[in-house]
Amino acid sequence: MWAELLPVGRSSASGGYRRYAWTGADADCRAWFREQAEARGLAHETDRNGNQWAWLGDPAAGNAVVTGSHLDSVPDGGAFDGPLGVVSAFAALDELRGRGARFTRPLGIVNFGDEEGARFGLACVGSRLTAGALTVEQAHRLTDGDGVTLPRAMEAAGYDPDTLGPDPERLARIGAFVELHVEQGRALDLSGDRIGIASAIWPHGRWRFDFRGEANHAGTTRLADRHDPMLSYAETVLAARREAELAGAVATFGKIGVEPNGVNAIPSLVRGWLDSRAADQTSLDTVVTGIEKAAREHAAAQGVDLDVVRESFTPVVEFDHALRDELARILGTRTDLRVPVLGTGAGHDAGILSDRIPTAMLFVRNPTGVSHSPAEYAAEDDCVAGVTALADVLEGLACT
Ligand code: GLV
Ligand code: MN
Ligand code: MN
Repeated sequence: MWAELLPVGRSSASGGYRRYAWTGADADCRAWFREQAEARGLAHETDRNGNQWAWLGDPAAGNAVVTGSHLDSVPDGGAFDGPLGVVSAFAALDELRGRGARFTRPLGIVNFGDEEGARFGLACVGSRLTAGALTVEQAHRLTDGDGVTLPRAMEAAGYDPDTLGPDPERLARIGAFVELHVEQGRALDLSGDRIGIASAIWPHGRWRFDFRGEANHAGTTRLADRHDPMLSYAETVLAARREAELAGAVATFGKIGVEPNGVNAIPSLVRGWLDSRAADQTSLDTVVTGIEKAAREHAAAQGVDLDVVRESFTPVVEFDHALRDELARILGTRTDLRVPVLGTGAGHDAGILSDRIPTAMLFVRNPTGVSHSPAEYAAEDDCVAGVTALADVLEGLACT
């Protein structure tokens, strides 16, 4: 499976993946998913929100067990974030068939659309729409960096945007969703374990800071006469680091837009996107409030206008305790495996769906912890351990 998937959307310049929603690379990933489903005799469909499903058994029977993840990537992302969960889902089905397992519940394999939000700025668009956590009106307003809206991008890719919307009937047929994911930190590496079970996802969000100053000549404008939004932005980046350190949280400005973006022009606009996450809501509020306060002070001192817009937010997710305990019980029967329970600062479709259906996650060791980078990695024997653990879980939940 990897041999066919690895070249898709890979930049030869960076070695990273550029699989953005509703682009050619995304279409190739979707074609790969269909081929994998067909090779296994699974029925497959794309739902009203662009999520892909493959089914063993009839989902209309209800109480389905679903596994999978996403195939899209961040800009220059790694090979594993997302795809490991989808590849492992198909591989776990192969493993179960090899074991001669008999399914008593429908099994679904899912590829959620636009999990990373790299193109339209909002993460987990497919699962949010399905869960009703994103309204159709909000989805229609999503626009990429070239001014293309989500509906137009879907249309260009051959999909009907008029079908977008909540899908409670689909969710009602699912009894459990288990997402396997490469770990995006080093907890398993440090504890010496191959596999972990997720406890919770930190609350997290994205905020857009627009600093508007005055464009002017870089050579002739006296420093005292400038209204330079880059200075306010730079001070805000430093404030983000300070506030995050004080609260034991994280805060990142990883994306920036500058206008007019000329070497010899003081910018008229600097637009920076803040991603901030913390273990609890109070800490996150403290961090973001502190950053915004510092930004306003610096902007005022430089005669720069500032607008701050919260573009997305996901509250803390505590995964379903009964399902989590069930996973721990199933994997607890394995004498060769110790399976710690860990929290994460990364967002996932499983977190979005956890509001509506019982969800759980399995993590596979990442020896460096690096993620959202071409250097993201998981060793082959750990990936195999992940497939075996997922097969065990699916067998325990869905087979006799
Ligand atoms: C998704 O991977 C996120 O946590 O931003
Ligand atoms: Mn990711
Ligand atoms: Mn992911």
